[in-house]
Amino acid sequence: MVRAVVCACLLSFCVAAMASAQDPKPRGEKIFADRKCGRCHSIAGNGNVDGPLDDIGNRLPADEIREWITDPKAMIARTASLFRKRRKPDMEQYTLPKEEVEALVRYLSSLKKNSRNGD
Ligand code: HEC
Repeated sequence: MVRAVVCACLLSFCVAAMASAQDPKPRGEKIFADRKCGRCHSIAGNGNVDGPLDDIGNRLPADEIREWITDPKAMIARTASLFRKRRKPDMEQYTLPKEEVEALVRYLSSLKKNSRNGD
């Protein structure tokens, strides 16, 4: 009986671990929260709504999302004309482990709004 319960727990743990390895959302969401990106950005209305990232997957290729996270100064310089009326503090330099950067890039790239052009 006890063994059956242990097996069931192990099984559900494995299924959960496999699911999170495939779906970028839970991992990316957790890092986004842990690293407090929500101080300046929001996703689905959670966080600072002055910097929504809800459709970032439509707007930026993965390379540029990655560059925002790894080298915001370069991106700020490059996009100065786009964000001329910056009210927010500049995006700060993070030093995140590569694995976290990649998880964030996968997660943010998956944030798309499909309603308008139906793709
Ligand atoms: C101190 C405030 C601040 C924090 C914290 C912050 N950012 Fe930013 N981020 C900015 C600003 C300012 C911009 C420039 C675009 C804008 O004005 O919204 C920006 C831009 C971006 C962009 C490009 C947005 C676009 O609309 O093109 C991405 C992607 C991004 N940040 C991701 C992150 C992630 C991921 C984190 C957490 C690891 C984070 N940011 C933390 C302030 C911040």
